[in-house]
Amino acid sequence: MSTVIVSQDELSRYNSLIPMLKKHISEAGIDRGRPLTYLVKTYGCQLNESDSEKIEGIFQEIGLVEAKEEETPDFLIFNTCTIRENADIRLFGNLGAYKSRKKENRDMFIAVCGCMMKQQENIDRIKKSFPYVDACFGPSDIHMLPKILANKLNQRKRIFSVSEEDYLVDDNDIPVLHKRKFRALVPIMYGCNNFCTYCVVPYTRGRERSRSSEQILSQLRDLAASGYKEVMLLGQNVNSYGKDKEGEISFAKLLEEAAKIPGFSRIRFMTSHPKDISEEVIYTMKKYPNIERHLHLPMQSGSSSILKRMNRHYDQEQYLKTAMLFRKELPDATVTTDIIVGFPGETEEDFQATLDVIEKVKFDSAFTFQYSRRPGTKAADYPDQIPQDVVTERFGRLLELQNALTFASNESVVGKTEEILIEGKSATAPDVLTGRTNSNRLVNFRIPAGIELNGKKIDSSAPDFDADEFEGMLANVRITRAKPYSVEGELESFIDESR
Ligand code: SAH
Ligand code: SF4
Ligand code: F3S
Repeated sequence: MSTVIVSQDELSRYNSLIPMLKKHISEAGIDRGRPLTYLVKTYGCQLNESDSEKIEGIFQEIGLVEAKEEETPDFLIFNTCTIRENADIRLFGNLGAYKSRKKENRDMFIAVCGCMMKQQENIDRIKKSFPYVDACFGPSDIHMLPKILANKLNQRKRIFSVSEEDYLVDDNDIPVLHKRKFRALVPIMYGCNNFCTYCVVPYTRGRERSRSSEQILSQLRDLAASGYKEVMLLGQNVNSYGKDKEGEISFAKLLEEAAKIPGFSRIRFMTSHPKDISEEVIYTMKKYPNIERHLHLPMQSGSSSILKRMNRHYDQEQYLKTAMLFRKELPDATVTTDIIVGFPGETEEDFQATLDVIEKVKFDSAFTFQYSRRPGTKAADYPDQIPQDVVTERFGRLLELQNALTFASNESVVGKTEEILIEGKSATAPDVLTGRTNSNRLVNFRIPAGIELNGKKIDSSAPDFDADEFEGMLANVRITRAKPYSVEGELESFIDESR
């Protein structure tokens, strides 16, 4: 695998196929008496979500319309993840459900892309057992989607086009459909060089390659000018941003430049590897209040010897030093983490060390995972795999501790008024809105009687009340109650009255 920079000429060649595809889609729509539709099903992390936004951007550019979840679309893409074993199982189950649907609509186009496609055994399985899948492509091949679609139209053969190369494309030249009205996902780098011994990502996403800071900042300025309030800078290890490019600025500097762009009220970033985060990042966060008051710092394990076997390049002491410095400098901020239980060789003592660090840092929340043995990774061959009953028992203890801390963290903000960026309707009730605090806490809240917006009273009990209309607005919300994984509140006032 090697990094290949895709030239403007090459990208223009792919994009030049768009008018032809558009004509085809429009004619097929006339034949069928309805517009042709698409669905993109996305699994995995925010980088996959961002890739799916590009796929949707291309689909909309060629004239496809998004289908409803329950409809059978004309174009269906599964953007897959393979981080843990159950991710693979889910794909094959969901794919199976489309066999009969394809029989009903023989012209339906079904493709599978994403991280699972970088594992030959998955491609082989699709070739053999899923003959109704028309195309497979890799996570680094999205810019070639117009070519893949054009080939499919011309040849009517199945297409297996997963590149070995790690492509780097100027994202600003690929159409993107931002799924959220207020939030833009912006990858700043692709790939990962770390080879943590449990993890498939370096194999599926290739080597680290940073986008140029000029391109990123120009994209951010455009997004701010078009009214985006929140931007999420993405990478598997954002703190090593720029290290692969001579003369490139550091992540701390990029963050600072982003924070200086007028318009964004929330700048978020994911993920920070503890080995690479610099103190400068923490001080930059402190200096600019529009950088989210939240650090996601995946710990994985609290035991220094397990961290060594995981190839994480930090020990318990270093992890605690960073987490505690952040707590000291930004006392109102939240710290969240990822933890793996049952890594090969984990003893009760190692597990206790994890619990100890959790108690010390008091994470505001945590993503907790049972170790999943991934073929091709180094740890998959470690002889001392942990029996499932031991993993399950430890996982239970971990959850009990972390759930208590998450609840205590939620309780600590009850009675406070927080600035919320509204995301729209909540999952609970039509008159309950949902949003996040600047420290990334999930808040479900109501609009009490008497609240005005642009001089008009809001009646959230009215039958035509649509909570989604408030998506992207900032409001002051008083937190009234803590729940296990979220908080409840009441809106006090809107901060800006526009979207
Ligand atoms: N780049 C990020 C993590 C991306 S993967 C980082 O290094 O922090 C997201 C999370 O999935 C990881 O932090 C890890 O906790 C979990 N994970 C990855 N591989 C796993 C495996 N084989 N089994 C269980 N959890 C895993
Ligand atoms: Fe996986 Fe480690 Fe890379 Fe994160 S840093 S993506 S855990 S290899
Ligand atoms: Fe999954 Fe690939 Fe992301 S394996 S977590 S989709 S980088």
